Amino acid sequence: MAASDRDDPRPPCAHAQFDVGETDDSLARMIEHGAEFGDIYRVHAPSHKSDTWVVADPETIKRVLVSNHRNYTIGRGLDRVRLLVGNGIIVSEGEVWKRQHRMMQPMFQRSRVERFGALIADVSRRRLAGWAEKAASGELLNVTRETSEGALEVVLRATLGADLDRLVSGLGANPFALLTEESARDLRFAFRFRQLGRHIEAVITRREAAVKDAGAAASDDGDWLGMMMAARDRSDGSAMSHRELIDEVMSIIVAGHETTAAVLNSVWYLLSQHPQVEAKLHAEVDVSVLPDLRLTSVAALKYTHQVILEAMRLYPPVWVLTRRCLHADRLVGYHAPAGTDVFMSPYIVQRDPQHWPEPEQFRPERFDSGADSAAHRFAYIPFSAGPRHCVGETFATYEMAIHLYHAARGFRLRCAQTGPREMEARINLRMREDVLMSVERRG
Ligand code: HEM
Repeated sequence: MAASDRDDPRPPCAHAQFDVGETDDSLARMIEHGAEFGDIYRVHAPSHKSDTWVVADPETIKRVLVSNHRNYTIGRGLDRVRLLVGNGIIVSEGEVWKRQHRMMQPMFQRSRVERFGALIADVSRRRLAGWAEKAASGELLNVTRETSEGALEVVLRATLGADLDRLVSGLGANPFALLTEESARDLRFAFRFRQLGRHIEAVITRREAAVKDAGAAASDDGDWLGMMMAARDRSDGSAMSHRELIDEVMSIIVAGHETTAAVLNSVWYLLSQHPQVEAKLHAEVDVSVLPDLRLTSVAALKYTHQVILEAMRLYPPVWVLTRRCLHADRLVGYHAPAGTDVFMSPYIVQRDPQHWPEPEQFRPERFDSGADSAAHRFAYIPFSAGPRHCVGETFATYEMAIHLYHAARGFRLRCAQTGPREMEARINLRMREDVLMSVERRG
């Protein structure tokens, strides 16, 4: 801390001007300033004409996300996501969020998640047929594209059920494929993505007409859209409007697709760079016969889960969390006035040597006793924490473990590119270039 800052009631100033999360170099700059200023500092956000406080102290992260969460809203920082999901659950605030959360949380309960096990395993197995072809022909597999398409298929089938195939055969193509085909996440993409709302509306209308014809009450079709259409707010018995349903379907797709795909992409990349980890994973999946797809059976794949947890530590797709305080608070001993924007980066805290020995090393054994193995529980926050933490955490972890189990039993991937991977921190943290790998059949 500079001598002149010591008497300042505000945290040290990085004397930098940038809108955290809105510039392509945000993460690189945060890493640089973090190395200089430590657990808390300020940068000036020119577009908002205010300071942003960047916090990397786990106790303070706990305070903001959990123990004093009532004093915080999501605030700014999700503007780019808002363009995609309207007023869906990821970005909404206050009473609107509470209602959405009440109505949607049951969809992600363990007993509901388990019902999607067969769907996930089926998508995985079908896609692996393509891996077998690549292994035979020697053609490279674009793992980034593959994990993106696989995760998209899972989230779309879980959301729309049989209506996905109806939509695709009616249109002659999958309108949602733009999520895997386009890598830009700019205004043009947002516009095209929002246009997809009309297809979701057509599905809703068709289902409503079917219910009317049958003279029955709205039934839950077993997929997420069906569950949302059947959900009634327990406070006033109301159903979601078409607009709300569309925004929530968009939210689930945005929240569940790219995040899961990015983690699986990192997993495959990291495995290819760490043969000892790969061998240990193979040893586990080779001897494990899943008796069924219950969550507890899949959770028994201990090392598989450690690999996933460690990949998310090094490459958390949601690399920054944003909150704004409603009333003044005290953070790391500094007075934060009402309206202060507080940004926390899972990427930075999860690589902090104060909490993680040799943080740059890929070592899944750190998680031998689960996700609580970190020195501080709040030094590991890939799914955030507190009331706004990821509702899809159980589903995502389950999906990734099932994919990895089937894929690692059958195949080994070898990276066709050399040198370190450059990362790109936009809405999500992703590898800048697609990962290309050769595919070898195992056993
Ligand atoms: C590895 C995959 C995933 C990661 C790393 C991830 C991460 C996150 C994080 C960090 C948040 C909270 C942001 C905050 O605190 O401001 C969040 C929220 C959310 N996630 Fe996930 N997510 C993943 C997969 C999924 C999946 C598969 C779904 C659903 C299918 C999903 C649905 C949601 C929703 C609806 C929210 C908003 C919750 C709320 O505000 O109440 N996520 N996710």
